[in-house]
Amino acid sequence: MKTLLFSTKPHDRRYFEAANQGLDLSIDYLDARLVESTASLCAGYDIVCVFVNDQLTKAVIGQIASLGVKHIALRCAGFNNVDLAAAEQAGITVSRVPAYSPEAVAEHTIALMMVLNRKIHKAYNRVRENNFILEGLTGFNFHGKIVGVVGTGKIGRCVINILRGLGCHVRCYDPHPDTSLEELPDVHYVPLNKLIEESDIVTLHCPLTEESHHLINHSTIDKMKHNVMLINTSRGGLIDTQAIINGLKSHKIGYLGLDVYEMESELFFQDKSSDIMQDDVFARLLSFPNVVITGHQGFYTDEALRQIASTTINNLMLVNQGNTDTNTFIA
Ligand code: NAI
Repeated sequence: MKTLLFSTKPHDRRYFEAANQGLDLSIDYLDARLVESTASLCAGYDIVCVFVNDQLTKAVIGQIASLGVKHIALRCAGFNNVDLAAAEQAGITVSRVPAYSPEAVAEHTIALMMVLNRKIHKAYNRVRENNFILEGLTGFNFHGKIVGVVGTGKIGRCVINILRGLGCHVRCYDPHPDTSLEELPDVHYVPLNKLIEESDIVTLHCPLTEESHHLINHSTIDKMKHNVMLINTSRGGLIDTQAIINGLKSHKIGYLGLDVYEMESELFFQDKSSDIMQDDVFARLLSFPNVVITGHQGFYTDEALRQIASTTINNLMLVNQGNTDTNTFIA
């Protein structure tokens, strides 16, 4: 079976070639994203391997099915970019990497919190210019703060463990609570509204679904504490970006840390440093001194990249063997 890997970056090729050593599965690598205009490139391939910003819409799935593609292998956990019903209808199976080093994303989440709090992004530049003034760099102690964790799955749980070590009081919301977490001192499940109202810091770790789309909006921001810290390392669509811009302008949001952005597919993973920024909303976000944005790099550790490559290669082998009845197959 032949596989075509879309949205390939140099690291994908390195880690996939290492994982494929000795197996010699037939894999070709493409820089291009899989969207309607590139779907015709799938001719002659049985499997497409895609990432977070490839667009597996109904139209794209129809196109690739007619070209003979039998399987979509996601090399990520989230699958909000795949129309699963269309895949099922077209007889295309779908696999993903359900867990790859949740610690990687959790640690990046905490890094964003720490950078924002202690204003490391500003301090770094000041010191490089021999400016050793501290004025404007005041932070706060995490110890004793209330942190609201929305989504207590694999990543949320790792975040909670780190926060407990810092001496934080944790409030959680999840439609499917993990009872083992409730046994921990200072960790309590509460309704979402209560979490929003009580937390000094709110961090998002739930998937993007119809239900969670714009979970953070004008009305939730109104209910937040003044000067709240908001962190999103999950999916951009969880936040109504215009609403957080208003929240930043009114000083309701005192700190914003993002690793994901609603319209990131037009920006992230590409070098746009010589271009004129066309996304005015993103440009406005960058203009705030209390906003730190990274370009979807939460997963980007050696351990996670190894795991992504090895689980995906294993999924490709399972497809080759006609064995799609494991927990990595979602359709
Ligand atoms: P998981 O499936 O282990 O946990 C997700 C949790 O969210 C579950 O407990 C689920 O019940 C809960 N949930 C579902 N809907 C919810 C809602 N409306 N409100 C609150 N909780 C809800 O997933 P995991 O591995 O913890 O990943 C979480 C998210 O992190 C992924 O969906 C993905 O979007 C994002 N992610 C980001 C990465 C990055 O590089 N920045 C890398 C990997 C994942």
